[in-house]
Amino acid sequence: MDLKHYLQTNRALVDTALQSLLPAVGTLPVRLHQAIHHSLMAGGKRLRPILVLACAEAVGGMREPLLPFACGLECLHTYSLIHDDLPAMDNDDLRRGRPTCHKQFDEATAILAGDALLTVAFELASRPIVGITAETILHVVRQLAIDAGFSGMVGGQMMDLLAENRQVDLEELRSIHRMKTGALIRFACESGARLGGGSGEQVEALKNYGAAIGLAFQITDDLLDVTGDSRIMGKATGKDHDNAKSTYPSVMGLPSARTLAEEQIQLALDHLKNFASSADPLRALARYIIERTH
Ligand code: IPE
Ligand code: IPE
Ligand code: MG
Ligand code: MG
Ligand code: MG
Repeated sequence: MDLKHYLQTNRALVDTALQSLLPAVGTLPVRLHQAIHHSLMAGGKRLRPILVLACAEAVGGMREPLLPFACGLECLHTYSLIHDDLPAMDNDDLRRGRPTCHKQFDEATAILAGDALLTVAFELASRPIVGITAETILHVVRQLAIDAGFSGMVGGQMMDLLAENRQVDLEELRSIHRMKTGALIRFACESGARLGGGSGEQVEALKNYGAAIGLAFQITDDLLDVTGDSRIMGKATGKDHDNAKSTYPSVMGLPSARTLAEEQIQLALDHLKNFASSADPLRALARYIIERTH
């Protein structure tokens, strides 16, 4: 399994689909589309849409028809980054190797670009898919609303801000990470399995896989903020310390945080035990989550 090649081809697939699914830069209002393209077409890892496709593949489903849905999830994720970077939140100047949306444009444009990406995500996610019942699509879109909203990503972002400048225990930190980042990653896996036609058992296993890699992903993000290279990551490092964020390294130290991330990856791999070689991309992706430098 050549993960590098797998990531490259799948990223290209997602990028091409995003280009064709979203209005071109010249569309009115031009400034809004410029801002959306600035943030969206800037070389993100595309992890969430790739997980949708890889989970569909793991249960023997078709990948191609799920592309608009997968792109919707990437739009929603990009909205979360644009808003996360705003001065009122993490106040960041660099994202995906470019000035953040509000730096390149202005705050109002960044807020609206985020809003537009959030709403277009639901337009893309609710499109009919050949061979999938409307009932299944409705189920998945509803789950997306839950995982992106107050009991998922948005709620986690609120808890993240409320945890600045104070001591939190591991239990609280775990739920912050599970909500702000874990929810969308878990959703990517669960929805990919469901739309790929997986059995109830398979959907449950891939949902659990997603929950484990989701937590490991944010722990690794925290670690990279301390140990990573800003030029490789395309965003500033040391910001969690500057913003007095509650993170795994700040609460338990680097080595324990690393061990915890590794344990989650082992857990994720255990959830794949009943899957054949069709889940090999997921096995490689799990290791990539904690070995990445970007
Ligand atoms: C960054 O997400 C924000 C977190 C949830 C940690 P990614 O690391 O997936 O960012 P991109 O999409 O590759 O830019
Ligand atoms: C972001 O977490 C989680 C989101 C839901 C966007 P961070 O604030 O740590 O993400 P980065 O480090 O800015 O990418
Ligand atoms: Mg943040
Ligand atoms: Mg941030
Ligand atoms: Mg971070």
